[in-house]
Amino acid sequence: MDATITLLGPPGSGKGTQAARLRERHGFELLSSGDLLREARAAGTDLGLRAARYMDRGALVPDDVIVAVVLEAIERLADGPVVLDGFPRTVAQARALDRALGDRARGLDAAILIDVPDEEVVRRIVNRHHGRSDDTAETARERLRVYHRETEPLVEYYTERRLLRWIDGAREADAVEDDVRAALQ
Ligand code: AP5
Ligand code: MG
Repeated sequence: MDATITLLGPPGSGKGTQAARLRERHGFELLSSGDLLREARAAGTDLGLRAARYMDRGALVPDDVIVAVVLEAIERLADGPVVLDGFPRTVAQARALDRALGDRARGLDAAILIDVPDEEVVRRIVNRHHGRSDDTAETARERLRVYHRETEPLVEYYTERRLLRWIDGAREADAVEDDVRAALQ
């Protein structure tokens, strides 16, 4: 069966960067929860407008909202390898993902944690100039607090299931990519 993996890590750790490389170089289909929300927002849908209020203050969009969006996207996936970027971010989301993948006779093959220290991620985010409304130093710090509180419990969740692969993300992107590839073997 084709691999299904998720990239975990603090904001600015390089999830989007590594997910794009998996798509371009290894043919993975990419499903990014943040990108889905930003697209909905740009399109001005009810979902996008609702999500914007949370995103702009660095908070998580409520589980029921994001789970509905991502599960719908999962239903549309083709049969090849898939990389999730930014989902799940809470234990409730991880349980919903397990159920949805089970329904499609898929399972999660690995949860790859790209670990980067707090000071480095804030530096990267404020230096990124993509015009994202949540890329101020203040919002980046709030996103980090939310990460430690809401998302870090997934490290234990996936360790217990023997799916966690830890990667030192505080190195250049090529070195991180080598480790991501090794984690897939
Ligand atoms: P999301 O879009 O997922 O943002 P994030 O997790 O805060 O992470 P970023 O996209 O900022 O960083 P990244 O890890 O992708 O790193 P990148 O590759 O860009 O979520 C945004 C918001 O949407 C959330 O706050 C929430 O409101 C909502 N949301 C999304 N998913 C949700 C969910 N599941 N539940 C609830 N709410 C949800 O890299 C960062 C920068 O560093 C770039 O400039 C890059 O070029 C650079 N860089 C990358 N790798 C390296 C490297 N190795 N060395 C040096 N620089 C590097
Ligand atoms: Mg990203």
